[in-house]
Amino acid sequence: MTNICVVGTGYVGLVTGTCLAEMGHTVWCVDINEDKINRLNRGETPIYEAGLDELLHRNQGVKRLFFSNQLSVGLAQAEVVFLAINTPSSESGDADLSYLSAAVDTIVTHCDTHVGALRFLVIKSTVPVGTGAKIQQRLLPYGISVISNPEFLREGQAVQDALYPNRIVVGVNHVDAEKMMRRLYHGYVCRGVPLVVTTVPTSELIKYAANSFLATKISFINEMAMLCEAVGADVLDVAHAIGLDQRIGPHFLSPGPGFGGSCFPKDIQALQYTAKEKGVDLHVLQAVNQVNRRQREWVIRKVTSVVPRPCTIAVLGLAFKAGTDDMRDAPALTILPALLKLGYSIRAYDPVAMEMAKGFLGHDITYCEGVTATLIGSDVALILTEWDEFVTYSMADIKQHLTQPMVIDCRNILNRQLASDLGLTIIGIGRGI
Ligand code: UDX
Repeated sequence: MTNICVVGTGYVGLVTGTCLAEMGHTVWCVDINEDKINRLNRGETPIYEAGLDELLHRNQGVKRLFFSNQLSVGLAQAEVVFLAINTPSSESGDADLSYLSAAVDTIVTHCDTHVGALRFLVIKSTVPVGTGAKIQQRLLPYGISVISNPEFLREGQAVQDALYPNRIVVGVNHVDAEKMMRRLYHGYVCRGVPLVVTTVPTSELIKYAANSFLATKISFINEMAMLCEAVGADVLDVAHAIGLDQRIGPHFLSPGPGFGGSCFPKDIQALQYTAKEKGVDLHVLQAVNQVNRRQREWVIRKVTSVVPRPCTIAVLGLAFKAGTDDMRDAPALTILPALLKLGYSIRAYDPVAMEMAKGFLGHDITYCEGVTATLIGSDVALILTEWDEFVTYSMADIKQHLTQPMVIDCRNILNRQLASDLGLTIIGIGRGI
């Protein structure tokens, strides 16, 4: 089994470190945020991620998973260091690599003063093509080989995705690096998980290409949804039927208020930046972004076209998708301020993202405890996130609590036939019939 240090305890670092420990490796997770490390050492999980708590406690309990705010402690025995540091968008749209560079600086300083076992540096963070090669130059004098190993973890399902990935991608520049990664992921390969070995730049690009393609599917179906409404067709039937074609596949064809989150918007922007630098125009991705922006505006127009002003809207769901408390680039951040500006009052509820949302959305919104409290005192409802709690909530109660029995269902989660039988109007996305 391998001694590993993971730098960064965000959702990628924490899930990666915990799952590597679960595979039997000894893992030290390091973060400069002392408060976070203290919480982790007390057994508290700082992020909401299904299944993580249990896995974390188990591996802490059997002494395979440790936390420290000192990189030197994490690196003391490590043969491999994983970088799982955030690479946010910079003002120009490029990925901001300053946190990542600072971590590499610290590793270099450590190597200058300690003779350790460190031989491999694995980049988990999403980085522009060419980053691995630059870091490799810096680490050549220390005999450390740089490897690219992008993550494909969905927030909310990150543990599941880390334990049962569709594939593992590794970019290497040395045969020893490939051997080490095969050793590290031996348990996965034995279960039949494909391990794609490629060069470092190809692996870096694979991550961007995967996210860009998924975002393209979403913008495509969102655009079809708009057309469906114009021609009197039903986008859910369109998505279902085209998804049955194996060349298309059924996933990521759910229309909604547009994609958000910490990855798609930032990664598309960073890939466009890289392409522009190299003189390549990415026309498809430009359109993907435009459609995504228009989708949020479309939701705002939908509301104004059916809800008179002044009115109070019960907004159900604030997170960018279900299963997470993440508010980064959430459609709610564009849609809610616009509705307030247009003169609507807003009562809002999200099962897990309330605290996060308050920081982003401020106090012009009335934050409510639960669906019922949100509906009482509201005229109509607007669903922005597809939480199960909203799917199972009684439609008869929705009708009873609202002064005007209407739900604008931006995730198409409510059954329109049942609602119509109850006298509740559902306005979905792309359901022209
Ligand atoms: C994404 C990638 O899926 C993951 O592989 C990558 O490593 C990180 O980025 P995540 O941001 O957690 O994961 O969310 P994801 O589940 O992919 O959804 C992204 C956005 O697309 C959300 O806003 C979601 O609501 C939206 N979406 C997704 C749709 O609107 N329709 C769909 O059919 C699927």
